[in-house]
Amino acid sequence: MLTKKWWHEKVAYQIYPKSFYDTNGDGIGDLGGVISKLDYLKDLGVDIIWLSPIYCSPLADQGYDISDYYNIDPRFGTMEDMDKLLAEAKKRDMSIVMDLVVNHCSDEHEWFKKACEDPDGPYGKFFYIETVKDGKLPNNWRSYFGGPVWEKLPGHEDKYYLHVFHKKQPDLNWENPALRKEVYKMINWWLDKGLAGFRIDAIMNIKKPDIHACYPADREDGLCSIQNMLHDAKGIDEFLHEMRVETFDKYNAFTVGEVFTDRPDALKAFIGDDGHFSSMFDFSETVCGKNDDGWYKSQPVVCGDEYKKCAFDEQRRLGDIGFISNIIENHDEPRGVSHYIAEGEVNDTSKKMLAAVNMMLRGLPFIYQGQELGMTNVDFTSIDQIDDCSTLDEYQVALDAGLSPEEALRSVKPFSRDNARTPFQWDDSANAGFTTGTPWLSVNPNYKEINAADQVGRSDSVYAWYKQLTSLRKNPDYQEAVVYGELIPYLEEQKNLMAYFRKGQEKTLLVAANYQKQPQDMVLPSSYKKVLMNNCPALNQKGDVLHLDGYQVVILEL
Ligand code: GLC
Ligand code: CA
Repeated sequence: MLTKKWWHEKVAYQIYPKSFYDTNGDGIGDLGGVISKLDYLKDLGVDIIWLSPIYCSPLADQGYDISDYYNIDPRFGTMEDMDKLLAEAKKRDMSIVMDLVVNHCSDEHEWFKKACEDPDGPYGKFFYIETVKDGKLPNNWRSYFGGPVWEKLPGHEDKYYLHVFHKKQPDLNWENPALRKEVYKMINWWLDKGLAGFRIDAIMNIKKPDIHACYPADREDGLCSIQNMLHDAKGIDEFLHEMRVETFDKYNAFTVGEVFTDRPDALKAFIGDDGHFSSMFDFSETVCGKNDDGWYKSQPVVCGDEYKKCAFDEQRRLGDIGFISNIIENHDEPRGVSHYIAEGEVNDTSKKMLAAVNMMLRGLPFIYQGQELGMTNVDFTSIDQIDDCSTLDEYQVALDAGLSPEEALRSVKPFSRDNARTPFQWDDSANAGFTTGTPWLSVNPNYKEINAADQVGRSDSVYAWYKQLTSLRKNPDYQEAVVYGELIPYLEEQKNLMAYFRKGQEKTLLVAANYQKQPQDMVLPSSYKKVLMNNCPALNQKGDVLHLDGYQVVILEL
């Protein structure tokens, strides 16, 4: 049995502030924008808001490159705005969670500047700095965003620093206790302010194996995947345990880890009884169909049986170990409806089906901004429309592999992180009502059809469906089953049928989805008391057989 936690019953929502709502016309979303939309979120049923980074940053990786952990980037607002957001959220019984980005900082952070001035001094030891002879780099790891993980230390001909992400994101050296102490101090400073917790960025990277270890090259560039490093790094648990004890534990904070790992004991170590975090994201659907050679070889759409298998396998692995966080998208992924529904079949009915099968899984549901409207991927027509550094790298990888520019664009488009980063579609006015200025990234041209103003008051909208799902989670009659009920797959072998029970102490629900365009029949396990939700106008039944329409989903109380 799980020990109940304050956040288990909640609904979480990720805001990508830069693209959420702009209040001063500079084309960049801001904290004022978040504050002004709190009622919208409350009404949707959101309790916990995760803000992607708003700290001072040169925005080389959109804020995941922090130059000052203790201040708000002026483009996003001021510390007064942040305090106001915390207070306004509290008034509404909502909690704010920030991104904790401590695998690396920005090369414009004070620490790094001091390290450049004196690589052998105390701040030099905050980073991985190596002296390089005859131009031979210490290892051959390829950074996540392409190219070697080593970059020349400004002001020094023979010294290089390590960055597993962008070269403007130097890795922090967690082996150094002085660095760890600074990190904990910063975390506690924010928790003292009233922050409810953190989403913990790229955390698996904080532990490195021997940084002189080379691995066989796996591409023409002579470099090897960074996965080798992740696989070989041992001993991250000590760091994470220490961090938890020094910070989160003291505040009963909520933490959700961005944990990508092949460790078989990961669930227990990270979210078990004595785990490092409160929760971690289930990325099993996300990584399904991804190819190590690059996006150009990856599978653009994952659906039906594949989606079901990923979700059920993860739920089985999890059992009663802990509480996972479920997503269909985030700021690093394409839009869920475009990625998990076959091309040409994306419509309100299929969007609602995906929402239901995901949000009814056991765990904490996270909605990413715009997901509740069924926002879709963008039909980029030129690489110039893309800002994301990761997409630009993958485009180059595709070109290097011999694809033509058109083919390269076509192959990376379905995965671009910018699909999810276009401005939130508030209404059908210019720039989707996101800004009165010029948006930093173009709006998706489909904003006239897909926008909040149209959907909020319309009872058959995708938004209204999400609201029904959050209400079901909060309904005292069903909450125990929805939050804690055991998940038991039903008719798992039936093709493109995704059905499962949520067996609570008093009530048992059945979620049954026809994850395909063609209708299909499903034999009922028993009679049912009530149809709690149905994304189609009717429910056709003959005896004990339900005749489900294409992409129909129903939630039944048995
Ligand atoms: C995480 C973030 C991603 C960022 C990376 C480096 O994966 O979600 O957006 O680029 O870490 O901080
Ligand atoms: Ca602004």
